Amino acid sequence: MIRIGLLTSGGDCQALNAAMRGVAKTLFNGKEDVELYGFLDGYKGLIYGNYKMLSFSDFSGILTKGGTILGSSRCPFKNMREPDENGLDKVEAMKHNYYKLNLNCLVILGGNGTHKTANLLREEGLNVVTLPKTIDNDLWGTDMTFGFQSAVDIATQCIDQIHTTAASHGRVFIVEVMGHKVGFLTLNAGMAGGADIILIPEIPYDIDKVVDAIKKRNERGSRFTILAVAEGAISKEAAKLSKKEYKKYVAESKYPSVSYEIADEIFKRTGMEVRVTVPGHTQRGGSPDAYDRVFASRLGAEAGRLILEGKYGYMVGYVNREIVRVPLEEVAGKLKMVDPDASIVKEAKMLGISFGD
Ligand code: F6P
Repeated sequence: MIRIGLLTSGGDCQALNAAMRGVAKTLFNGKEDVELYGFLDGYKGLIYGNYKMLSFSDFSGILTKGGTILGSSRCPFKNMREPDENGLDKVEAMKHNYYKLNLNCLVILGGNGTHKTANLLREEGLNVVTLPKTIDNDLWGTDMTFGFQSAVDIATQCIDQIHTTAASHGRVFIVEVMGHKVGFLTLNAGMAGGADIILIPEIPYDIDKVVDAIKKRNERGSRFTILAVAEGAISKEAAKLSKKEYKKYVAESKYPSVSYEIADEIFKRTGMEVRVTVPGHTQRGGSPDAYDRVFASRLGAEAGRLILEGKYGYMVGYVNREIVRVPLEEVAGKLKMVDPDASIVKEAKMLGISFGD
C-alpha cells in the first residue's frame, strides 16, 4: 500500500487539477494499492489535519476544471517557524500529521514560497515531490510552469480586445499584466497581442523613452499606442532605491499601481488620452488551455512515476523540452527572471517594440 498526501498551495492557477489528475491516474495505474489524502487549503490542511480521502472518481472530469479541487491558501514561508496564534509549532504539526497518516510521500503543487516550505519539510525528513505551478513562470529549475501559457492566452485576449477600442478613439492604452516581480507573462502576452511598448521589472524604464516611442508612432500616422506593463514594472529612478526606500515610495504613492503613474506621466507629456485596463485575477481563472492540460498531465505522470520508483526530494520540471527531475534544494529560494539580453527581447526590439530603456 502506498499512502500519498496531496496539497496545492499559494495563488491558484489553471491546470492544478489536471496535474493532480496526472499524479493520481499514474498511481492508480501502478501495481500497488494507493490511498490518497487531499489536504485542504494548502499547508493549512497539513498543519491542522484537515484532509479528505480521494478516490479514483474524484479525478474524473477535472482535466478541464480551473482552480483546485483541494482549495489553496497563502502560508508565507517566513512565518512557518513562528508558532500560530495558539502557540502551535506549524512545522512539528505538519510532521505529526504526516506520520500519523503513515504517508510515504507528499505531493506539493506550488510556486516559489511553496517550494521553500516543501524543501524545509524535506530537510525535516519528510518525503516530498513537487510540481511547478504559477502563472508567473518565475520558478528556478524549470523553463516552464503550468498555468503560465493559459495566463498568456488570457492577457493576450485582453490586449486584443483593447486594440479595437484604442484604434477607434486614438488613445494610449495600458494593459497591466500580472507576474509579481518578473516579466515573462507581460513579455509573452505583449508580443502575442502586438503591444507597441512592453515594460517589465527586469528592464527598468525611462519615461522619456516611453514617451518618445509614443510620439514616434504618432509621427508615423498611428492613432493609438498599446503598452503592456508588468505589475512589477519599475522606472530607472525607482530601481536605484534600496528595497526599504522602494517599499516606502510605493506605500506613499498616490497611484493604485505603476500603470496609473505611467498613464499620468504620459498624459502630462503628450496631452493624449490614456486609459488603464487591469485584467487582474482573470489571468489565473477558468479552464486551462490545451498546452497546460498536456503539460500538467505530463508533469503529474512523472511525479507519479517518481513515487512508484520510491524516489523523493525532487521537483518535476521542464528543461530544453524534456521533463526532468530537479533536486528540491536547487529550486528553493531562487527566482527565475527574464534575461534582458535574451534573444526574445532582442527579437522584440527588432520588431520595433520599445522596452523604455
Ligand atoms: O503568483 C501569482 C500571482 O497571481 C502574481 O502574478 C500576483 O502578483 C499575485 O499572485 C497576486 O496574489 P493574490 O492572489 O494573493 O492577490
